[in-house]
Amino acid sequence: MKDIDFDKLKKEVEAELQSIKTQEEIENFRLKYFSRKSGVLNDILKSIKGLSIEKKKEYGKFANQLKIYIENEIEIKKESLKMEHIKNLEEEEKIDITAPGKKVFSGHIHPLTHIIRKSVDIFESMGFEVASGPEVETEFYNFDALNIPASHPSRDMQDTFWLDPKTVGPGFLMRTQTSSVQVRYMEKNNPPFRIVCPGRVFRKEATDATHEMQFYQIECLVVAKDMSLVHLKSVLELFFKKLLENEKIKVRFRPSYFPFVEPGVEVDVICFKCLGKGCPLCKKTGWIEIGGAGMVHPKVLDSAKIDTSEFKGFAFGMGIERVAMIKYGVGDVRLFYNTDMRMLKQF
Ligand code: PHE
Repeated sequence: MKDIDFDKLKKEVEAELQSIKTQEEIENFRLKYFSRKSGVLNDILKSIKGLSIEKKKEYGKFANQLKIYIENEIEIKKESLKMEHIKNLEEEEKIDITAPGKKVFSGHIHPLTHIIRKSVDIFESMGFEVASGPEVETEFYNFDALNIPASHPSRDMQDTFWLDPKTVGPGFLMRTQTSSVQVRYMEKNNPPFRIVCPGRVFRKEATDATHEMQFYQIECLVVAKDMSLVHLKSVLELFFKKLLENEKIKVRFRPSYFPFVEPGVEVDVICFKCLGKGCPLCKKTGWIEIGGAGMVHPKVLDSAKIDTSEFKGFAFGMGIERVAMIKYGVGDVRLFYNTDMRMLKQF
């Protein structure tokens, strides 16, 4: 057998140890020297079996020293790799408390919700109570009780989404106006009262820049003794001053027809951009049409069994989208209902 050059072997071991960078490499290194089957040290021990006692002693001693040396070095290497790993982690996870913060995106309520809440707040500040009714309505509350005869055009299939009578029975529809809440409330409550009712309504119309099949209305109804158009006008003027945040706002009435009020009026608000001078927003008229109103028709009070010799009432209804379009300068109602955040983020 050839002489074993332990010095050379030790140098090789040292070089290998230098190049080790991972725990996995340490394990491979350990197996290379200590594996029972093919480890370098075992091979040495096997190969010296047939040698003279002296040689055996000499090589055995060297082999043993080498073994202890390698075992020690492995432990040292393992420990130093562990420390290095921890140091790296500290470096990676270090928190720089002087770094500028990340911007947090916070949303906001939808412009229509904003107008609804603001309107309700204003009416509440005037002592109004919030009332509500169902979106799936009966023919009675949406039409009959509001003095809208069967022949009235708004009963036409063009305007109303009727529910399938085979499925839900006859006379059910998606309410076309929040006025449907009027009689519902009056049946259960005795006058005097003042209510405000925001809600969704539905109409079977072709959708375009100023029409949607679904939109929001806000309705107000007051029933008390000695009510007149003067009360209606002053309540509306105060309401619009607050809603449009302008003390100079005025309201005007134009005669109109709604079956459930008498007299009925169209409500115009002075153009808040030009204050009546005439501008593109008001199409040079100085006024903006904003809703319908009137004195509650005696037949409607009758439907709710309210004594018309004692009580009178006024009602007002407006479309929320229309107010939002005017207030925010939005030219197409459909923009409020699409999912394009570029539109909503502007408010
Ligand atoms: N409900 C009517 C509409 O939708 C508006 C209205 C409400 C008119 C109250 C008069 C009184 O057009």
